[in-house]
Formats: sequence, structure tokens, C-alpha cells
Amino acid sequence: METNDTMEKVIALCKRRGFIFQGSEIYGGLAGFWDYGPLGVELRHRIKQSFWETFVSGRDDMYPVSTSIVMNPRIWQASGHVDTFKDPTEDGKQFNVMFSTSVGAGEEAATSYLRPETAQGMFVNFKNIQDTFHPKLPFGMAQIGKAFRNEISPRDFIFRSREFEQMEIEYFVRESEWEKEFESWRGAMLAWMKSIGLPTEKIHELEVPAEDRAHYSKRTTDFEFDFPFGRKELCGLAYRTDFDLRNHSTASGVALEYFDEETGERFTPHVIEPTFGVDRSILAILVSAYTEDELGGEKRVVLKLAKHLAPVRVAIFPLLKNKPELVAKAREVCTDLKKQFGNVVFDDNGNIGKRYRRQDEIGTPYCVTIDFDTLGEKPELLNTVTIRDRDSGDQRRVKIEDLKAEVGL
Ligand code: GAP
Repeated sequence: METNDTMEKVIALCKRRGFIFQGSEIYGGLAGFWDYGPLGVELRHRIKQSFWETFVSGRDDMYPVSTSIVMNPRIWQASGHVDTFKDPTEDGKQFNVMFSTSVGAGEEAATSYLRPETAQGMFVNFKNIQDTFHPKLPFGMAQIGKAFRNEISPRDFIFRSREFEQMEIEYFVRESEWEKEFESWRGAMLAWMKSIGLPTEKIHELEVPAEDRAHYSKRTTDFEFDFPFGRKELCGLAYRTDFDLRNHSTASGVALEYFDEETGERFTPHVIEPTFGVDRSILAILVSAYTEDELGGEKRVVLKLAKHLAPVRVAIFPLLKNKPELVAKAREVCTDLKKQFGNVVFDDNGNIGKRYRRQDEIGTPYCVTIDFDTLGEKPELLNTVTIRDRDSGDQRRVKIEDLKAEVGL
């Protein structure tokens, strides 16, 4: 199944079920831009939440920020992007892939850029974090946000687009510690990729040779993933040295340094940068989760998503649509679970088999059915429901009062 066929199927499923649509679709689209529908938004939200819990709120050395997409153009001069963030066009010319935009009106208008990475917003706020929180090294800044690149040839669905979202960390360290910290982030990144359900055998580390590294990097490890269209970069880890802080210090005239109160030393910290693309993570997750199998002699499509990422955690069905007492009970169970988990849906459309297929296709880990036994037709089964497991199709009877624990993580 590891062919472009999988891509076509995943793209079709994304459209059919409301995960991802072509951007500007009714006008014929715009290459490199994509829109997310309700289920795609949920998946995206959960991936970012997982990143946040693991790398930001779950640690005590992280200082998140949310900075502007458009910044003073001198930032992009100092960062080296104006001079070097270029790709060759077909006829061999170097093309700067930053989107330029104009800020202000008339003669006063200044040219700036949509940020091509979220990183610079963190470097230019380094002093604000120092002054307000006085963190001790090593510590990190983190940001999730949109980035824009006028890619010469956007392709492979959401893999290479012109507007995408990054989850980045700038981790400030002493120069002498960079190798140790690099190693520790390598492990942390791999562990997170595993936690979102990516098969480890599809992840490959590539030591990027000097001539291919970004202008700021002294060492880069790309984490490549076996996508159906080939082995391609999913996320990366770079040792940016003190390149950015030093350049911004020089260009702005504002010292971006660290003062060690114990030793009295003042120096420019070095930076380890783990960076992830939200959209590439989504694509890797979708192509890994997409499965065609057979259950009870029937072919089905199932998205085997990690439970904590599934757009819908539980679907609640009344066995029959036209029995008000079943519907009322199903609504009651649904409302109660929704209070706890949020992403719980009620579905009474079509027969049960069809409902299972629909939920399998969007990766819902649990389907709960309210039937006549729930209402006490067999007195010993009063207030019990069936709960069906997405991957095995197995069904068990459980008490309604135990449902929260059953569908919890
Ligand atoms: N701050 C470092 C940086 O921006 P990068 O390798 O150029 O490094 C980081 O980008 C991540 O952003 C990539 O690993 C990838 O996941 C994502 N990314 C980069 N360009 C992209 C594009 N055109 N479309 C989708 N995601 C992209």
C-alpha cells in the first residue's frame, strides 16, 4: 500500500470527510495553500496540544511566546534571510522564497516579509524574556505559529506548501554544553514522534552535510520519514551556534547576552533548535494511520490514529433512530461524556454497520451503542452499553458509569 495510491486515497478521504480542502477551491484553488475542515482542525489542535504538553507546559525551563508574522525588515537582513534564503529557479536564477509585503501607505510604505520561520520572533524577544523572567541556562523559548515560503514548486499535498505552521524551540545553552543538549533533544524528538503514533522504522536520521545546511547551522540532523512519495524531511534539529543572537545584537545595537550571577560572566548563549512542521506531522500521521482491512468479511477503511489525537474520541449511537427512549438515553450519555472529553458525537444516521464504517474512516477509537438492554429489557443489563473497539471491531458490554474510565487514555 506504500505507493502514491495511498496519497490519492488519503487526499480523497481528507476531502470527503472534512479534514483538508484545497484552498480557494471554488475559484480553482491557489497552489500551495490548503484549508482545514472540522476534523482536520481537531487533529491539528491535538497535535499542537501534544507538542505543548510534552515540550512546553510539561517542563519547567520553557518560555513560550507568540510573536508577529510581520516584523521589522532589518530582522530578516540581520538573520541572513534577505541574502541567503533562496532557491534556484528552473533557469538557474536564485529566487528569495520570502513573501514580501508592504507595510503602511504611500511614500511611508516599507517593504517587509511574512516570516519564513517562527524562530526569529523568539531571538528578538530574548531580552524581554531575560528581563521579565530571569531564567537560568539552559532554558528554551517556544512558539507555534504560521510561517510562509513562496516555494517555487509546492507539491505532495500539504507536505510542501506556501503557508504552513511550525512548532519550534530555541534552546539556549552554554557553548561547552551544546553536544550534550543536542543529543538530549534528539532523544526527546524521537520519543515525541513515537508518542503521536509514527512507526519508528519509518523515521530515519540524516546528518546533513555542511554544504546542504542552512546558513546559520553548524550541525543539523534531519528526521526523515518514509512518505508514500519517498523519504523526506519531517522535522529537524539544528545547532545554530550564537549566530542569531550575535547578529541581532550587532544590527540592533542591543546586547543580547546572558549574565551568570554566580561567576560574573557575560556571554552570548548558543542555540539548539528542534523544529517541527504541524502540517508535515499531520501528513505523516495520516499516511501511517490509513489502513484497508477486512472485518467480519467486509472490506473497510480505518484510520488507526493514536487515541489522544483522534478528532472524535467516542461516537454514541441509539440502536434505532425511531425509538425516542433509545434516542433520549443516547443523548444523555453523549452529553455527559462530552462534558468530560469534548470530542464526543451523537450519530443516528443509517444502520449501525454504516455508522461503524463512518467512524472507522475518521479514526474514532470507540463507538458506544445504546440498545433495549440498556433500558432494562434484560434487567441484569440495565444501564449497560456496548463499546466497540475501532481496530479489532470487538464489542464488550460495560456499565454506563464505567464509560469515562473505559474511553479515557
Ligand atoms: N527554524 C528552522 C526552520 O525553519 P526548516 O527545516 O526550514 O527549519 C522547519 O523548517 C520545519 O518546517 C520542517 O522540518 C518542516 O516540517 C516544516 N516546513 C518547512 N518548509 C515547509 C513547507 N514548504 N511546507 C510545509 N512544511 C514546511
